[in-house]
Amino acid sequence: MHFDEVTSTNEELKRIITQGQAKEGLVVSTEYQTSGRGQIGNSWESNDGENLLLSVYLEPTFLSPADFFLLNMSVCLAVVESLNEIHNGFQIKWPNDVLFDGKKIGGILIETTISGTRVQSAIIGIGLNINQRTFLSNGHFKPSSLRNVLGQIVDRDYVKRILLNCLESRYLNLRADNTGHEIRQHYFDMLFGFSTPVLAGVRGQRKYVQIQDVCADGRLIVLHEGKQESFLFKEISFYP
Ligand code: BTN
Repeated sequence: MHFDEVTSTNEELKRIITQGQAKEGLVVSTEYQTSGRGQIGNSWESNDGENLLLSVYLEPTFLSPADFFLLNMSVCLAVVESLNEIHNGFQIKWPNDVLFDGKKIGGILIETTISGTRVQSAIIGIGLNINQRTFLSNGHFKPSSLRNVLGQIVDRDYVKRILLNCLESRYLNLRADNTGHEIRQHYFDMLFGFSTPVLAGVRGQRKYVQIQDVCADGRLIVLHEGKQESFLFKEISFYP
């Protein structure tokens, strides 16, 4: 379902689910969000008609809540793999960013509902900067777009098709093997800070750390001053 304008594709998809009209795999996309949402209450900046803004409805009931992050890993991997089909060099930044050469090209916002011991449903919100050239947001990793990377205007439908194909195949992989064994191997190949040390902010200090592992519940394990430490989202930040 494609809309000219919504508040947020995640919110619009929730509305459709509440009305009982959502089947697994439904994609809600839009040209413009009046209140696009990012992680931890941030907003998501995107000019009208320039980027990809979409949410996918999934029912990953084969996952236990403790393994929730395997879904996040599969989605991040699919997004980065789809971009790497167009141009090599895109990376995942834990827990949910897409980077190219130290710039943020996209973000992922996954919202799940849990029922008993299972993940009942998941809304996979994806924002990819495609043709926007300048941005107001100002994080450690400056926003940029595929157009800035390639130096030419990009066909958004083309990227969307590749993205949805990669998502479907990574999701089916996870459903077939919910140990996440195969996904983890590929995830680490694409992970910023895994193969080389990176600068991180830890308890108000900047240190070089190297990522060693990401747990199925999302905790990040890094090697820091010769010791292994585990961090939750927001306990550690990275610098380009
Ligand atoms: C982040 O990096 O903070 C995550 C950003 C996620 C943005 C996408 S755009 C489509 C979907 N709808 C939203 O309101 N947010 C996600």
